[in-house]
Amino acid sequence: MPTWVITDATTIDGSSIDLEIDDGRISRLEPAGSIDPAANSDSTHYDADGRLVTPPLSEPHVHLDATLTAGEPTWNESGTLAEGISVWADRKRSLEADDVKDRAERAVEWYAANGVTRIRTHADTTEETLTGLQALLELREEVADLVDLEVVAFPQDGIFTDESHEDLLREALELGADVVGGIPHNEHTREDGVASVELAMDLAEHYGRPVDLHIDETDDPGSRFTEVLASEAIKRAIGDRVTASHTTAMHSYPNSYAAKVTSLLADSGVDVITNPPDNAVLQGRYDDYPRRRGHTRIDELQAAGVTVGLGHDSVMDPWYHYGCADPLDAAFVLLHYAHMSGRGDVEVLWEMLTTANASVFDASEYGLVDGGEGSLVVYDAPDAFNALRTRAPRTLVLREGREIARTEPASAQVVREDDGESVDKPIDFQR
Ligand code: FE2
Repeated sequence: MPTWVITDATTIDGSSIDLEIDDGRISRLEPAGSIDPAANSDSTHYDADGRLVTPPLSEPHVHLDATLTAGEPTWNESGTLAEGISVWADRKRSLEADDVKDRAERAVEWYAANGVTRIRTHADTTEETLTGLQALLELREEVADLVDLEVVAFPQDGIFTDESHEDLLREALELGADVVGGIPHNEHTREDGVASVELAMDLAEHYGRPVDLHIDETDDPGSRFTEVLASEAIKRAIGDRVTASHTTAMHSYPNSYAAKVTSLLADSGVDVITNPPDNAVLQGRYDDYPRRRGHTRIDELQAAGVTVGLGHDSVMDPWYHYGCADPLDAAFVLLHYAHMSGRGDVEVLWEMLTTANASVFDASEYGLVDGGEGSLVVYDAPDAFNALRTRAPRTLVLREGREIARTEPASAQVVREDDGESVDKPIDFQR
């Protein structure tokens, strides 16, 4: 007997489906009207009533050690990446384990309520006590009932900018960090940046871990480390476990050079993660008018066959003060800043939110398919377009057959005047 029977749900491509979940997996998936819930009286029946259903969402890039610290000790008034790093440098001196865990756990719960079951968080390893990293490693186990949490050993201030940073990075990996991080454009010189990419790849091979670098997160067209990362991935044949995060400098590269890097990325199998909320406010800060948008070349990368996912990056921290840990908010920002407002872009954005983001993780049984993991999200919206337009509430979130979150949509009404009488009229924002 299945655990769950979901009927009359609408998929991203507009199909109407029924499905059963048994023992944590999708055990049956049929056109709507095929499954009789009355025949499964011991199961929990959820009538989606035509609402959108998708596989679970993933967060491929966030900084949970810094989350919910916006304004501490000061707000980032210039809006630059550099001031964000400076504010964080002050705040991280007072990190304590409970402080990090309390804030990060709250953000994880926000993510789960928004339909996220996988999160990759970076943890700053240039904080000399590794308090934040160790707190997030502990939290990884404590939130295992909600999400798969991956922790990236991330040398925020650079690996070669201080003689202690390489040892701290290695210690973080020894302590159990899941992924090797780096930030070559924040090293002092081009040569140190290249060396930092090579070291990250050496460590990834030595420890058998994936690599996820903040890379070329600048408007400087002279910042050219993505070519090094892709080249190293090709030489070492490990592109399937390498992620290039941000690559915003590609926005400003000459077209001929951008085409070369795009081709290298496609050949390497390296995934790219763009981070719309942060890069919408961090990029172009040194420009006079016109100001560059600064997102990576999403359309060109996708046309070349590169998998491009999208992350939130920050939830209320010194780099981005806003956010509710909702990937749909990130997609909503991206569709404006990347000119992805066409009708055909709706499916592209959902592909990024679902399959592309999940590809960063070990998610081989991902997707609404017979035999796939019994994880899904139901939205209070009739289709993929309206769910994105309204960032619709997630009415049901299942993870491997277990309900991990639900939301009761708010009811809104306007008060109309009718023959001198006030009359409440319910409002439905869906179309
Ligand atoms: Fe980041």
